[in-house]
Amino acid sequence: MRIAHLTDIHFQQDPSFNELFKVKRLMGSTNLYLLGRKAKFGLEVQRKSVEKIVDLNPDLVILTGDLTAQALDGEFELARRELEPILSKFPTVIIAGNHDTYIDPFPTKMRELFDPWLSADGADLKEFGEVGVLTVESCRPTLLSNGYVDPTRLQKASTLLAESKSSFIFMCMHYPLLNRRGELYGPSTRAISNAQEVLDWMKGETKISAYLHGHEHHGYQTTLPIKNGTIPSINPGVSGYNIDLKKQRFPHVACYTVDDGHLTDIERWQLKDLNEGYKAEPSPAFSSKL
Ligand SMILES: [Fe+2]
Repeated sequence: MRIAHLTDIHFQQDPSFNELFKVKRLMGSTNLYLLGRKAKFGLEVQRKSVEKIVDLNPDLVILTGDLTAQALDGEFELARRELEPILSKFPTVIIAGNHDTYIDPFPTKMRELFDPWLSADGADLKEFGEVGVLTVESCRPTLLSNGYVDPTRLQKASTLLAESKSSFIFMCMHYPLLNRRGELYGPSTRAISNAQEVLDWMKGETKISAYLHGHEHHGYQTTLPIKNGTIPSINPGVSGYNIDLKKQRFPHVACYTVDDGHLTDIERWQLKDLNEGYKAEPSPAFSSKL
């Protein structure tokens, strides 16, 4: 099976006057408009990322959060329209990112438009033949960008894992647990506040085969310990960035091949030129360190 992964695509629209005056959104808008974040994301590249996923013709698509910039109703509507080529064609799993939960831990508009693809009750395991996808929601509205994993979700995840028949299980959360050097991910203002608790829980599990996440805009791969060894932890890098070669910033998507219960290939594509389109990163994936 081939599983395509995109993350942090950040569809964005300008907030209305009423939407702006919610404290967190006011901070987000300041970030977007005064600190230049808005220029970092754009519809042209977002559409190229969606096209690339469709071209890959995968068996399954995983989107690890941050569909929007500020969780505006209009942004969720835009995301739903723009993601239609994926959602109408491929089985897909979506989790929320911290940008999708600016105001509400379960945004009504996100649930209304994306319900078939989201987790049930904050932890869920969906099975697609030999591949299972365990999702654990970790985002919440705070003035900063930190998350938290409710321990009851980990208990539920343990039950779901024990019951699963899948031979290869991806665990998906929006946040990294470890950084690119294999240390606890930080700073604390941008991390899961109980990441160590999640790592300790993971060390008691045997059936997680790989961990997929987003949030950190430059992608990287590291490993995480589980009870019977280590598993890869993979973030392709954001899929909605405008291209800025000087800052070495451009969109990525990834694709994983799972065969007979094993991860046999990791491929990653980079969009450095809109006219040339997505190009494969020279093998092995992540060799370019970007
Ligand atoms: Fe994020």
